[in-house]
Amino acid sequence: FPVDKANYRHFMAKEIHEQPEVMGRTLARYVDVTAERIKLSQELPFHFSDIQRISITACGTASYAGSIAKYWFEQLARMSVELDVASEFRYREPLLRKGDLAIFISQSGETADTLAALRYAKTQQVHTLSVVNVPTSSIARESETVLQTFAGPEIGVASTKAFTGQLMVLAALAVAAGKARGELSESDEIRLVRELLEIPRLIAAALGSEPQIEKVAREIAKSRDVLYLGRGTSFPLALEGALKLKEISYIHAEGYAAGELKHGPIALIGENMPVVAIAPYDQVFHKTVSNMQEVAARGGNIILMTDAKGASEAIAHTLATIVLPDMAATFAPMVYAIPVQLLAYHAAVMIGTDVDQPRNLAKSVTVE
Ligand code: AGP
Repeated sequence: FPVDKANYRHFMAKEIHEQPEVMGRTLARYVDVTAERIKLSQELPFHFSDIQRISITACGTASYAGSIAKYWFEQLARMSVELDVASEFRYREPLLRKGDLAIFISQSGETADTLAALRYAKTQQVHTLSVVNVPTSSIARESETVLQTFAGPEIGVASTKAFTGQLMVLAALAVAAGKARGELSESDEIRLVRELLEIPRLIAAALGSEPQIEKVAREIAKSRDVLYLGRGTSFPLALEGALKLKEISYIHAEGYAAGELKHGPIALIGENMPVVAIAPYDQVFHKTVSNMQEVAARGGNIILMTDAKGASEAIAHTLATIVLPDMAATFAPMVYAIPVQLLAYHAAVMIGTDVDQPRNLAKSVTVE
């Protein structure tokens, strides 16, 4: 990936649009396309059957990738996962069992807290595996196993293509874990690999929603607060959406598990408050719809990100419904990340902030 903006106004826009290619490159490394199998298991210095618990540690957007991976490891490999942000992990004396697996996720591979967490884990005799974008980085060098994301240089402070790259690597790892532990059959693996191989095409299709998202961003840009809601793997994506919006547009945004709405945030909802609902048609879709009804009843403006089936069954009135391509639900976050990123990007462009270098932020946080 050449380090220039090509014909884009910002690096962030270019990086959002590079995602089909990033996913293709990452797949080429981790998937045997002909055999339709994950290529990973043979090269790992541990066997997933010997691991009782996985700990995942990262900061910011990378921690949301870890949070989504937790659902995958639980669902596909029936493994218990503990997730921490690195600044908490490093100071809370976490209990790690010798021989277990600690995963560290970092685009830069230089984030101070994540690096310190890795160094702590190494003193506890666990296997350390890092998912990093920069293969020469400190975190890559100091980890027992390195799984690279092939995002190329990410210049925009807001992480976009590195995030989906991390998700792809973690998805492949979770499938490998499920297979190694006997939780997934050969045909399950083939089915899931086929779903992964569809992702570049689905992301390219999701990019097609950009003109519509640009219009919605006009509404968002006028707002003081925005709420993001999701359930299941869409919950960490809601957190990611809120982070993305606040860091580049400076609009206050919060992500919530949709089921938590009644436990507090519903008090914020008044006339025209924008609420972004991330809701692919999965087994919790109708639960999220009932949360949308609660928002609509209080005059909130719903921006729904869903698929054709979801759009036809969502009863609440929406300000906009962004219809994404149909896909199997498991890996939906990789595709739903696209409208989430585009919405933040266009809102920031409309407000006129320095999108690639927002105030007070550094691309890589190498000090505490
Ligand atoms: C993402 O948009 C942020 N700029 C930030 O949260 C970032 O993901 C975090 O600082 C972690 O960085 P790393 O992946 O390089 O470790």
